[in-house]
Amino acid sequence: MAASLNQAQTDKEKQRAAAQALRWVSDGMLVGLGSGSTAAYFIQLLGDALRAGQLRVQATATSLASEALARSVGIALVEPRRGLRFDLTVDGADEIAPQLALVKGGGGALLREKVLATASDYLLIITDSSKLVPQLGRFPLPLEVVPFALPWVLDAVAQLGGAPTVRIDQKNAPQPALSDQGNLLVDCHFNSIPDPAGLAVQLQAIPGIVEHGLFLGLARAAIVAQGEELLVLRP
Ligand code: 5RP
Repeated sequence: MAASLNQAQTDKEKQRAAAQALRWVSDGMLVGLGSGSTAAYFIQLLGDALRAGQLRVQATATSLASEALARSVGIALVEPRRGLRFDLTVDGADEIAPQLALVKGGGGALLREKVLATASDYLLIITDSSKLVPQLGRFPLPLEVVPFALPWVLDAVAQLGGAPTVRIDQKNAPQPALSDQGNLLVDCHFNSIPDPAGLAVQLQAIPGIVEHGLFLGLARAAIVAQGEELLVLRP
């Protein structure tokens, strides 16, 4: 079972999912690059393919970390501009439920991830098997929050049953973690989210929440590595 996988097995699954995703990339594509460790494997493999002359692509990254990695492996980067659309975005996830309902943002990049997912013709999710769940909510749902609004956002999320905690910067505790936009990250412990679409509407209505980590109706496919198997899931 996924829960009993050790770190080495999980990393191997992430690498296998990332390697499979390369097959989705065609020459000349404009590609969105996700964030997190699985997306990082994909970025490295894409860089290898570019340097080997197998592909030419341009890309935009969903975080400063992914942008730096992409640059270091020789991927040509495109700045955001009006009319820009991506043929394909490849990104990880924290949870995948039926219909490819996702929780994302464990790495704090949920805002840019959702911007690129929405600006993409095809969002491909790549994960290890531990991310598959029957229902969202076990993983704390991340929010990006404007600092001024924090107290009221915490009150509103608590009323929704989300038991919010402000994410701490582990390298600089007890300072709060900041997103690439300089906003705060709040993790909401719902434990289970039986109605993700309803919760998304409620969260969008709270002033000061810039974005939430529910990605609904966005992913077109997910590659989930499970041991030696590769599952390709669709909504
Ligand atoms: C970052 C994300 C990541 O995709 C998610 O946290 C998965 O990360 P990893 O591939 O390291 O398990 O949403 O904001």
